[in-house]
Amino acid sequence: MAKARQLKLGALLHGVGGNMAMWRHPDVKTDASVNFELYKSWVQKAEEGKLDLIFIADGLYINEKSIPHFLNRFEPLTILSALAAVSRNIGLVGTLSTSYSEPFTVARQFGSLDVISGGRAGWNVVTSPLEGSALNYGKKEHPDHDKRYRIATEYLKVTRGLWDSWEDDAFVRDKEAGVFFDSQKMHALNHEGEFFSVKGPLNIARSKQGQPVIFQAGASEVGKNYAAKEADAVFTGHETIGEARQFYNEVKTRAASFGRNPDEVLIFPGIGPIIGDTLEEAERKYQEIASLVTIENALHYLGRYFEHHDFSQYPLDEPFPELGDLGKNSFQSGTDKIKQEAKEKGLSLRQVALRSATPRGSFVGTPEQIADQIQLWFEQRAADGFMLTEAYPGGLEQFVDQVVPLLQQRGLFRTEYESDTLRGNLGLPFPENRYTRVQAGS
Ligand SMILES: Cc1cc2nc3c(=O)[nH]c(=O)nc-3n(C[C@H](O)[C@H](O)[C@H](O)COP(=O)(O)O)c2cc1C
Repeated sequence: MAKARQLKLGALLHGVGGNMAMWRHPDVKTDASVNFELYKSWVQKAEEGKLDLIFIADGLYINEKSIPHFLNRFEPLTILSALAAVSRNIGLVGTLSTSYSEPFTVARQFGSLDVISGGRAGWNVVTSPLEGSALNYGKKEHPDHDKRYRIATEYLKVTRGLWDSWEDDAFVRDKEAGVFFDSQKMHALNHEGEFFSVKGPLNIARSKQGQPVIFQAGASEVGKNYAAKEADAVFTGHETIGEARQFYNEVKTRAASFGRNPDEVLIFPGIGPIIGDTLEEAERKYQEIASLVTIENALHYLGRYFEHHDFSQYPLDEPFPELGDLGKNSFQSGTDKIKQEAKEKGLSLRQVALRSATPRGSFVGTPEQIADQIQLWFEQRAADGFMLTEAYPGGLEQFVDQVVPLLQQRGLFRTEYESDTLRGNLGLPFPENRYTRVQAGS
């Protein structure tokens, strides 16, 4: 009998919050983005709730208008390595850019995290939206949107090749015979491509889960194709179930058209549940956070999606300004959507800025109401799982204590980890080493 589809859950750990002003809330520790003890307590809480993974987002360029959390935060692989030592089962997923790094280094770093954590590493492959990133890496220009995805494609091919440098039983470690490794099972990659030239082999072996899990977050046409071809899981953002279903269906259909099993590309919309004993209490909490965000904050938040464009130059209560191609070379899918919605709904600049900076989403209510929404989205195939963000201080703790038990009672979510690897818990197949596979097949 086919195994019942099981909901997956991840928690995005975001220090003082992904919002411009949540840090000002009385319950937020103002140093949360660089407070290791706090990160440790979050990962342990997430693990108590049997969540599949924690997720660290990242960026490579800041200025005085950036979201406070972005100004002073941990580098993803560094914090994940520390968290690996204080957790046992939960997956550890970090964001790293293919536009501003080298595949050999990154294959090594994620390979090491995967071994340190006993097979729990995941990599959120991003192409870096912000042009300013080039200025931090001695580059003359930020590669254009589609070129960034071409680089990302070759990059991942190289990284995956390097991760197979050693077959799983390559290290013999026979003291008696003086044999440390079997040279037949060590493989150089010898990659020569358009963007990279990498000989190999890599100097770290595969982990218990074979290779780190590949996440992707990008939703333009090229972005969706990249996800459908390459990703094990996709982090995405949608306000309504209708939009989320459409995205889900598109990515799964494309995955099938590339010859993949669509069940092996998991879709994770990000949601920020706001939980109250009553709907009114939850609404009040939402308003409490929203009221901390000033219109100046909201314009800065919106501006970041458009290369930190200065929106203060336009009248606030007139129709959203015409921006031409601005935003196409950064957050393309996001900025296309903002422009389109503003036009369709006739929104003013003030409305667009406040909607972006303080999204309410569909997940505000009592624990039962949140569980109902999650069930609906999951069963209607708008999601295979969710990436939880803290839209209100203490949101993760409340979710684990009050919503997870409901999801468990309904048989939607695990009560115990199935595995101690991330692939195992996500139900993704073990990627056999390509060289072993060839020999077994020959
Ligand atoms: C839900 C979501 C989360 C993202 N998280 C990150 C991130 O943590 N770091 C980053 O550099 N880019 C992040 N991005 C940006 C994408 O990686 C990508 O650069 C951008 O969306 C432009 O590509 P697209 O037009 O294909 O969407 C995220 C995008 C989405 C939709």
